[in-house]
Amino acid sequence: MAKELRKALTATMIKDVPAYGNKFFYSLGFLSMISFVVLIITGIILAFYGPNWWLTTTPGSYMRSVHLWATQAFVTFIILHVLVVFFSSGFKKPRRLTWVFGVIMLFLVILQSEFGYLLRNDYSSQWRALQGADFYNGTHLGYWLNVLNNKQIYGIHLVVLPLILMGVLFLHYALVRFLGVARPYRPEVKVAQVPANHTVLFIRGGVLVLGILILALILPSPLVPATTITSVAKQDPALMAQTLMGEYTAQSDTASYVDDIAPYSYNTQQVYVNAPYRQLVASDTTLIDQLNRFNVEPAALRASQIKAANDYFNNWNGTSKVPLNNPLVIAIAQLVVMAKAGLYQPAVEAINAQATPADDTTYVLRFLADSGVLDAHATSISLQTDQYGMLHEEAGHALGAWWLAPIGLLDKTVLSNDSNGDRDGGIIFGTFFILLMAFPYIPWVNQLPDKLKVYKFIWRTKP
Ligand code: HEM
Ligand code: HEM
Repeated sequence: MAKELRKALTATMIKDVPAYGNKFFYSLGFLSMISFVVLIITGIILAFYGPNWWLTTTPGSYMRSVHLWATQAFVTFIILHVLVVFFSSGFKKPRRLTWVFGVIMLFLVILQSEFGYLLRNDYSSQWRALQGADFYNGTHLGYWLNVLNNKQIYGIHLVVLPLILMGVLFLHYALVRFLGVARPYRPEVKVAQVPANHTVLFIRGGVLVLGILILALILPSPLVPATTITSVAKQDPALMAQTLMGEYTAQSDTASYVDDIAPYSYNTQQVYVNAPYRQLVASDTTLIDQLNRFNVEPAALRASQIKAANDYFNNWNGTSKVPLNNPLVIAIAQLVVMAKAGLYQPAVEAINAQATPADDTTYVLRFLADSGVLDAHATSISLQTDQYGMLHEEAGHALGAWWLAPIGLLDKTVLSNDSNGDRDGGIIFGTFFILLMAFPYIPWVNQLPDKLKVYKFIWRTKP
C-alpha cells in the first residue's frame, strides 16, 4: 500500500527539469504547497475543537500560532515564487494561463488571510473587521460581504475559499505538470535537462515545516482580549452614556454612515436604545417606563430635554445621581447600569440575531466603533493604517500582514487627501490585480523581464 501511494505521488511530480530546476528558488511553488497543507491540517484541527479551545488552552494557542506562521510562510513563498517566475519570464506562452491561475490564488490567499485574522476573536479581529468593512463597503462589496458578521466569515474562511483555492491550485499545478518547468527561451542559454531531485525537494519541505513549528513556539500568535460593551460601561460610564445618546439622536457614525452605499441601514435609536430598554423594563416590573414617559411629552419639551441630556452626559462623572425631571436622562442612565451588569451586550446581540438570523456581531461592533474605544486603542498600540499597523501584530513580536503595507503607503501618499479613500483604494488594488493577471498578454510590457536581464542569475548553471 505504501509502495502504491509512493508510486502515485511520484506520478504527480515533475520528472525532468532544466538543471536550475533543482535549485532552491524553483522549490518555492512546492514550498507554498507545503505551507498550504499545514494551513489545511491546522485549520481543520482548530475548527474541530472550536474557539474555546484555541482561546484558552495551551495546545489550542500553539495550533493557532502554527496556523499563523504557516500563513507567513505561504504568503512569503508565493511572493518569492512570483518574482522568480516573473524575472525568468516563466509566464510566456504556453504558460500564460498558469500565470493567470497564480494571480487568482495570490488574490484569494491575501483575502483568506484577512478573514483568518477575523476569526481569532480578540481585539485585532474587531479592529480588522471594522477596517475591512469600511474597505469592502467603499468598494461596493459590502452588499454581499459583511466582515462584521463573524458567522459569514467563518463559513467563507473554513469552506468557501479553501475549496476554491484547492480547485485553482489543482488547475495551476496540472498545467505545470503537463507543460514542465519552462526552459530558457533565449537560444544562447544552454541548459541540460536533468531528473528532478524529489528527495531534496522533500527535505526542503521538512525543514520548512520544522521552521514553522519552532517559530510558533518562540513567537506565538498574540491575543489581546476583545473589547466588550460591558468593559466600556464599567471603565467609562460617561462614554457609554454619550454613545447611547449619539445612537438615540442618530448622530453616531453608524447612523450617519455613508460610504458610497449605506450598509448600516438599521435604525440606531431602535436597536441601541428603544429595544434594549423595552427588554429592561420587561425584566423588572418595578421600573417605571421612562422612555414611554418621554415619548408622550410635547415635541418642544422633548427637544429641550434631548439637549439637556446631551449637556448632562457630556459633563457626567459616571457616578453622580441623575436629575429626576428628565426621563431621557434616567432611561439612558438605566441602560448604563444594565450594560455594567453585563446584560446590555447580550440584549443587543439578540436584537441583531432577530433582525438578521445569521448575524449577532455587527450591531455590537458598530456600537463599539461609535464609542471610539477601538480607534483609540488602535492608536495607542500603533495599529492604525497610517502607523503601518499591518506590519506587526497587536502584541508580541510576531510579524503582521506586512503584504498589506502598500495600503499604508497609499494612505500616506495618493489617498492622503481623498474624501473616499476606501473606494479609491479598492479601485487601485482592483486595477493592480487585473493588470497583473493580464500581464503576460500585454505586448511590450511583457518584455520587461527580458530587458531587466535578472534571468542571468536564475539560469546561471553549467550547460
Ligand atoms: C498558492 C500559490 C502557488 C502555488 C502552490 C504554486 C505552485 C507552483 C509550482 C509547484 C510550480 C512548479 C515550479 C516551481 O515550483 O517554481 C509553479 C510554477 C509556476 N507558477 Fe505557481 N504557484 C502558486 C502561485 C503562483 C502565482 C501567484 C503565480 C503568478 C502570479 C504563479 C505562476 C506560476 C508560473 C507561470 C509557473 C510556471 C513557471 C515555469 O515553468 O518556469 N504561481 N507554481
Ligand atoms: C490559504 C489558507 C489559509 C490562510 C492564509 C489562513 C489564515 C489564517 C490566519 C492568519 C488566521 C489567524 C491566526 C491567528 O489567530 O493568529 C486564521 C485563523 C483560523 N483559520 Fe485559517 N487560514 C487558511 C486556511 C484555513 C483552513 C483550510 C481552515 C479550516 C478548514 C482554517 C481555519 C481557521 C480557523 C478555525 C481559524 C481561527 C483560529 C485562529 O485564530 O487561529 N484556515 N487563518
